[in-house]
Amino acid sequence: LAATDYQAEDATIAQGTVATNHTGYTGTGFVDYTNVKGSSVEFTVSAASAGTASVTLRYANGTATDRPMDISVGGTVVASGVSFPATADWNTWATKSVNVPLAEGTNKIRATATTANGGPNLDRISV
Ligand code: GCU
Ligand code: CA
Repeated sequence: LAATDYQAEDATIAQGTVATNHTGYTGTGFVDYTNVKGSSVEFTVSAASAGTASVTLRYANGTATDRPMDISVGGTVVASGVSFPATADWNTWATKSVNVPLAEGTNKIRATATTANGGPNLDRISV
């Protein structure tokens, strides 16, 4: 089954802003996580049936320091401290994939920064 894209700028943002000040994003922008622990972006994702799904996050991290995030589904952390290591610069995007359990119907998938640096810049997820 083909993956569906969910743009970060259309998601529910807690402690972050929609930005366009770097190149290479898809959609109309990306989310610049506020550089604090706990900043997050939550996507509403529909699944035709229950089961394990691959979630691919497209991100940029123009610093030398990892920007780990917890990935939760429906409030339960399903992947803890997922690494979002440096990309070449803020205009260079990379992907990180994690397997997550989804319920049939609507799922709330959230990516939450676990360090004071906040998350990486987030362009979209594909599920
Ligand atoms: C820079 C960059 C932002 C980024 C931020 C950060 O300000 O322009 O896009 O989010 O660094 O360190 O998080
Ligand atoms: Ca930021």
